[in-house]
Order: sequence, then structure tokens, then C-alpha cells
Amino acid sequence: MLIKNPPSWQIPEREATPEHVFLNRRHFLGAMAGGATSLIGGSAFAAKKKTPDPTADLYPAKRNEAFELDRPLTKESDASSYNNFYEFGSHKRIAMEARKLKIRPWTVSFEGMVEQERQVDIDTLIRAMPLQERLYRMRCVEAWSMVVPWSGFPLKELVKLANPQMSAKYIQMQTFNDPEMGPGLKQFWYPWPYTEGLTMAEAMNDLSFMVTGVYGKPAAAQFGAPLRLAVPWKYGFKGVKSIVRISFVNKRPKTFWENIQASEYGFWANVNPEVDHPRWSQASERTLLGDRVPTQMFNGYGEQVADLYK
Ligand code: MTE
Repeated sequence: MLIKNPPSWQIPEREATPEHVFLNRRHFLGAMAGGATSLIGGSAFAAKKKTPDPTADLYPAKRNEAFELDRPLTKESDASSYNNFYEFGSHKRIAMEARKLKIRPWTVSFEGMVEQERQVDIDTLIRAMPLQERLYRMRCVEAWSMVVPWSGFPLKELVKLANPQMSAKYIQMQTFNDPEMGPGLKQFWYPWPYTEGLTMAEAMNDLSFMVTGVYGKPAAAQFGAPLRLAVPWKYGFKGVKSIVRISFVNKRPKTFWENIQASEYGFWANVNPEVDHPRWSQASERTLLGDRVPTQMFNGYGEQVADLYK
């Protein structure tokens, strides 16, 4: 039996999710209930077969001291057991289910307005990049936050490698869309694949970071292995996980959450304590340690990014 004991900082699922999505999801969970035993059996089997990550030797990456923070790090056990990854289900205790994610072989394609479209093997990509560790605050739109030691490389390095045309205005990133691997993808009412985007100026900002590792080792599946975005001045839903496709386009991409509810989860999604979510205040946040702290404009990264929005 599953015993649910939600921590103090957790918003009830009904409040955090647009109502029509919540109701559809309940329906789906009901239909899936009969298959639960075999799903759990499958996860355990996948766990047994787990092979070491081929890039494990690159970690821990050297910490970039420019990104030291005043706040304590979130405990790894907390950050890795409270995740959003709808491809595996629409609850937060997703780590076990996410073990179905098969991260090798994995390729990332560069498409759209690039000099040449191509596919890159993830290990070749990671080994070609200057890996470093950065401590970033992460503020979810649901008003909880954490501090995570991400490892990875600046997004601008990946942009250089992709070689987009000068006229490209936006970068769009998408997650895998294979329902055999991510059973949540069978929930037809979501606008799969998970899609996010940035302007090219945002993508070239030094804070935009491609994550390949967390807590000094290759990223665990639930964090969005093997490649995920971190843009710490924006709400957490911009941090698209398990990326397979990167496109350069001249029209603003329609993002996953914007498709679901544009008035609540818009394209820009810059952290702003003065603009409340229609259903709750954004003035403060609960850290995963349980403290309530005031939310900062741009999540405290205004010095680095405020100029982008003048
Ligand atoms: N990326 C994909 N592909 N699928 C998702 O469900 N959830 C987003 C974002 N990236 C999500 C995703 C949301 S809502 C948040 S808050 C963060 O991932 C959560 O990241 P974390 O689980 O590492 O805390």
C-alpha cells in the first residue's frame, strides 16, 4: 500500500494543476490501476540490468566558483525524490518509474535553421564540452524551491556547435516521445512532446546551462538524463528534460505548458514575486528544507539577465 505523507512545502496536486488536466489525469490513473503490479515488476527488472554511465569518469566536474550561493544545498535525497517528469506520470514521486528511461544509445538532433542538420551521439557531445559544476537556485512555479549542484556546460557552447543561421530567432528543445519508454506519453490530452524554447539572446546568456550531471555524478533519470536545460531565472518548467531535438526557428515556439494553459504558464516565465499565479501568490516560496523565504526578482539573477528584457 502506498502511504502518502506530503511534506509541509508541497502544494496539493489539485491546486498546482489546471482543473481539466487534473480531472483527465484522475481518469487515466483509474484506467491504469489494473496494470500497476506489472509496471512495478518492470521497474525492478530494469533496475537490475542497469549498466554504468559511459561518461561517469568525467565527474565530479570542477566547480565554477562564480556560481557559489548563500543558501545551503538541498539534500540529494530530497531533490531526487520530488520531481516533475510527466512522461512517467503526473505525480512527484517519479524516481522509480523514471528508471524505464533508456539513456543509451541516445542522439540529439540539430534541426531547422542550421547550416547543416545533423545528429550527434550524446557521449561525443558531452566529451566535446567543457564540463563544470554550478550551484543554481531552482524555483518551481508551484512556489517551492531548491538549490542544486548541476554539472554540464553553457548552452552557448552547444549553439556554437550546432552552427545556426544568423537569422534564427529562437531555440526550441524537445523531449523524447516514445510511450513504450515513458507511459505518461499515453495520456493523449497532453500536447506531447514536451517542448520548451528561449530567444537566441536568452540562449546565449552565460547562465543558460545544459545539464548532464547532478550531485557530482551523471544525472539520475528523474532529473532528465542524459541532457536537460537549466535556466535559473525562469520557473522550473522551462527546464526541459531528456532532450532529443534542438531546432532553430524564427517563430516563437508554442511550449508544452503554454499549450495547456497560457494564462498560467506563459512562454517567458521569468521568476517575479510581484506577479502572482492566478491561483496562488508568488511573493514567497518554500525551500525543500521547509523554510519559507521571500522570492527574488529573476530568482536573484537580475544582474546577469535583467538587460535581456529592457
Ligand atoms: N521536462 C519534461 N520533459 N517533462 C516534465 O514533466 N517538468 C518540468 C521541468 N522539465 C518536466 C520537464 C517541471 S514542471 C519542473 S518544475 C522541472 O522539470 C522539475 O525538475 P526536477 O524534477 O529536476 O526538480
